Amino acid sequence: MDESQRRAWPWLGTGPLWMPRAARVAADDAAEPGGDRGGQGDASAAWESLRREVSGCELCSLCATRTQTVFGVGREHARCLIIGEAPGAEEDRRGEPFVGRAGELLDLMIGAIGHDRQRDVFIANVLKCRPPDNRDPAGEEVVRCQPFLVRQVELIAPVVIVALGRFAAQSLLSTDASIASLRGRAQSYRSGEREIPVVVTYHPAYLLRTPLDKAKAWRDLCLVAEILNAAPAGQ
Ligand code: URA
Repeated sequence: MDESQRRAWPWLGTGPLWMPRAARVAADDAAEPGGDRGGQGDASAAWESLRREVSGCELCSLCATRTQTVFGVGREHARCLIIGEAPGAEEDRRGEPFVGRAGELLDLMIGAIGHDRQRDVFIANVLKCRPPDNRDPAGEEVVRCQPFLVRQVELIAPVVIVALGRFAAQSLLSTDASIASLRGRAQSYRSGEREIPVVVTYHPAYLLRTPLDKAKAWRDLCLVAEILNAAPAGQ
């Protein structure tokens, strides 16, 4: 067990005996820092152009109130893509997703399956700009922003996507279904020719308010680890 996993136990309030084999193997198989699954040239040009498009985007009115866009953070060819809702005030200030208390909890959740925010996963939001006053994203904003997320999924080509909370799950899967009905088994997202498994779990901000549901979130994370373990190593 490494240090990041040891740090993860407090979020569950339990000890290392809880760690199922799937999570242990995922931790052991975690990719090397700085490693890459794909070719570099075309992909980095595509990333660069997408970053530029996002940072200059004026497709909806959120461009007038944002401090900056929040593109996403992590490994460009991550096997695991984590998707939240939209930047909050702190994220808007710092230009990085999940940097407040919810972000700290998310880091512990990522650590619980042996991964690291910068090194192993990519974290993005459905919206790249902060909706003012923490209001819910509007339908029009999601429609305008969606092509950026679609492109991120294509470029990352992850083995698994984790949708954090109702909003991310419903937007990604184009459904009105509840979190309760989407959890517990992998859903599917079509990206080009690929069907990518999507694990729906609770948003860390919700888990901070409802810690009893962390046990369910842990089961969701174990499903993520299982999917990662089952995929061929180079994928
Ligand atoms: N909540 C989200 O969904 N995304 C963030 O980046 C921060 C909080």
